[in-house]
Amino acid sequence: MNRVPSALLRSTHDLGSPATKSGSLIDNFDRVHRSLRISVTDVCNIRCQYCMPAEVQFQPRDRQLSFEQIAQFVRTTARLGVVHYRLTGGEPLLRPRLHELIKLLKEIKGVEEVGLTTNGLLLAEQLPELLSAGLQRVNISLDTLSDATFKKLARRDGLQRVLAGIDAAVQAAPALHLKLNSLVLRDVNLDDVLSLVEFARERNVTLRFIEFMPLDADRSWSVNRMVSGDELRQRIATHCGGLVPVEPENPAQPATDYMFAEGGPGRIGFIDSVTRPFCGTCDRLRLTFDGKVRNCLFGSQEWDVRELLNDQHSEQELGQLLLNAVAAKHRSHGIADADFQPPARAMYQIGG
Ligand code: 5AD
Ligand code: SF4
Repeated sequence: MNRVPSALLRSTHDLGSPATKSGSLIDNFDRVHRSLRISVTDVCNIRCQYCMPAEVQFQPRDRQLSFEQIAQFVRTTARLGVVHYRLTGGEPLLRPRLHELIKLLKEIKGVEEVGLTTNGLLLAEQLPELLSAGLQRVNISLDTLSDATFKKLARRDGLQRVLAGIDAAVQAAPALHLKLNSLVLRDVNLDDVLSLVEFARERNVTLRFIEFMPLDADRSWSVNRMVSGDELRQRIATHCGGLVPVEPENPAQPATDYMFAEGGPGRIGFIDSVTRPFCGTCDRLRLTFDGKVRNCLFGSQEWDVRELLNDQHSEQELGQLLLNAVAAKHRSHGIADADFQPPARAMYQIGG
């Protein structure tokens, strides 16, 4: 196993004390890790082209960490300064009784925020119990407002259920912070961009365009299929009478947000992961549904925690593993490098 710089090791000795100072997970580039994305399943009820293959074999359910194992992991990360948690998948709402996990996590000292990234299909029916459990944020994917384009992109029907989920989330504001995420593929949904912007604007919701990254299972990624944030920004600004940048809510956020020059509610953001990598402010770690820690979406290394999350759960050992994972973090993802290799796992197997 990699040795860890001694400056980092100090915090492991503090692990037993709940008073451990936040900001203990600092990497070699001085990035402090405060966010954890937890994938609760690889299973999904649709098959977005930018993520899944058309035919997919999901892992057996017994590969999934239990809620108690996830909570054990979160207790250790919270002692090491992680404060923001987000549940992802696959589709996290397919994990039965997900609200119980949210409740468990919200009870852990140090957990400031629990959010969810979902495709929205099951949201309307589950939202009441998710809210009672303490869910604070939800990001819903919305790439089109056309049933036909949805079917082409997601290889399944379901847009009307997604829209019902968005309606329910809009109703739950301001207790719930809602954002919409769109991913544009040049050959599929480029013509939907302006209608998506109007949809978000009418509802006073932030909509963010995420650049297509080489994380699709089909390996269909190409520069031509991806539409850059710059291109979208220009198109939207021309249509809407200009966009004006706004200060980020959180300095580690990957998105640059804009408001409409004409004024009024609604924000449009751009996550230009490929053309403007934001690795410099990255504060994230990931836990996959099957118990692997990843320090980067694009990393080739994983740290297995499943065996450590048991009745004899050792905070020391788990804390050391996290410090190792953070110490091994690279400065940037290197998508633009000539020798870049996409990770072996696709997005649905890592957690979006
Ligand atoms: N590139 C960028 N984002 C992706 N997502 C899934 N696959 C990719 C990809 N290849 C994101 C989408 C979706 C979220 C769950 O994961 O934005 O909304
Ligand atoms: Fe499912 Fe999300 Fe992947 Fe789409 S992007 S197939 S909704 S996991």
